[in-house]
Amino acid sequence: MARRRKAPSAVPPAARTDSSEPSLDDDVQAPPVEAIRVRRMHRRDLNRVWEFLKLVFRNVNRQTVEYQRPRSKQRFEEQYDDEGIEQLVFEVGADIVGYAECAFEVTGSDNWINPRYFDTRDMRPLFVEELASHPDYQGRGVGSFMLEQLQHLARIRGCTHLVLEVAENNKTALAFYKKRAFQKLDAAIFMAQKIPNEPELLPPRTLNPRHADGAPPPLEPDAER
Ligand SMILES: CC(C)(COP(=O)(O)OP(=O)(O)OC[C@H]1O[C@@H](n2cnc3c(N)ncnc32)[C@H](O)[C@@H]1OP(=O)(O)O)[C@@H](O)C(=O)NCCC(=O)NCCS
Repeated sequence: MARRRKAPSAVPPAARTDSSEPSLDDDVQAPPVEAIRVRRMHRRDLNRVWEFLKLVFRNVNRQTVEYQRPRSKQRFEEQYDDEGIEQLVFEVGADIVGYAECAFEVTGSDNWINPRYFDTRDMRPLFVEELASHPDYQGRGVGSFMLEQLQHLARIRGCTHLVLEVAENNKTALAFYKKRAFQKLDAAIFMAQKIPNEPELLPPRTLNPRHADGAPPPLEPDAER
């Protein structure tokens, strides 16, 4: 959980007056100066980043058909050793406030992307696999900084596009991307058709009355073959 730091006082204690009168300086505090830094993820960060992603996507995943974060921790850990994947951690002080992951190739056995789509259009995409900012820091420019970092990577590695997948009902993220000139590709939409619900087993049925002498009832004429 990210903790906000106490704002430092504008005046160091030694420089304050000894007067018992309250000084204006006692009330005026300099705004906290917070900077966001980016670095590559280390192996030792794996657990913290996984917990961070669970926190960020907890609410998002409740709303969407498809998981919007890595499906399993095992897969997340395997990706660390994948050379084609960049995993970036964004920090304010010691707190993780953002995580971005991108790949230069279509990776993973569970991937549904068809690379030929991009080849035939002369697109060299950088696939954005993950973009997440801490809920306490959303709306403060973390997402924009992360995206700028990915655009920068794409440019210097010769990619022509950032490509990502976002659920249509992830309204915040969708608005964020649209505002930043992302355009919809030919993407799948999840569809469902309601099937009328019937029980698999038939309901109870009334038995024919027992025959008086215990013998089975005679067959109907057209049933005699
Ligand atoms: C999408 C996401 C990465 C954006 O990150 P962010 O740190 O909020 O990004 P920014 O602060 O740079 O910009 C957020 C925008 O929302 C606005 N905003 C204002 N108040 C906000 C608030 N309380 N919370 C979120 N956004 C707010 C910002 O002003 C900004 O508007 P703009 O698009 O007009 O510039 C972030 O919402 C997120 O991690 N969501 C959950 C995970 C997710 O869905 N990821 C995408 C999966 S594809």
